Amino acid sequence: MKELSLHILDIAGNSTAADAALVEITVTEAAAANRLTITVKDDGRGMSAEFLAKVRDPFTTTRTTRGVGLGIPLFERAAVSCGGGLDVTSAEGGGTTVTAWFEYDHIDRQPLGDMPSTLTTLISGNPRVDFVYRHSTDGGAFTLDTRQIKGILGDAPIDTPEVIQWLGGYIAEGLGTL
Ligand SMILES: Nc1ncnc2c1ncn2[C@@H]1O[C@H](COP(=O)(O)OP(=O)(O)O)[C@@H](O)[C@H]1O
Ligand SMILES: [Mg+2]
Repeated sequence: MKELSLHILDIAGNSTAADAALVEITVTEAAAANRLTITVKDDGRGMSAEFLAKVRDPFTTTRTTRGVGLGIPLFERAAVSCGGGLDVTSAEGGGTTVTAWFEYDHIDRQPLGDMPSTLTTLISGNPRVDFVYRHSTDGGAFTLDTRQIKGILGDAPIDTPEVIQWLGGYIAEGLGTL
């Protein structure tokens, strides 16, 4: 994958597939400390200790559409190749947290990519799931919480083309100020 946002899409897709009600995505660009950290935390069904022990291995999957599970191994490989690593914590019934960290200025570090598209894809594809996106740099922070957006929308659905387009612009504008 060429962009970290595509890894985020895959990892957050694991969360929605695990019936999460809330998915919290955090991107921390600590440039001065030379570290980029990405966390995807969910309250989905989680994994057994036995499954967790092998989840970083390619081919570990519960999906039936294709017999290879590569989302987590590929994300780990991207992180390790940039002087970082990946950690998964999970408990059956207790949700899952995936954390990946990278050397910020590593030559092989993929760019973050298109987070507005990644987030609007997740939100429009999973309108009943709530997402919190927190993005911070050394200069500032941006937060999007779909629970707040839904509160403002009232009875209007979040997954209409108009709202999704507005959200994409809102996120792009917010990230543009960081
Ligand atoms: N957030 C999560 N909650 C529960 N199970 C998960 C989560 N993330 C991954 N898994 C489990 O680990 C498996 C491997 O995930 P992944 O490496 O992304 O490959 P894939 O999604 O293609 O199966 C999934 O099939 C699923 O069983
Ligand atoms: Mg996956």
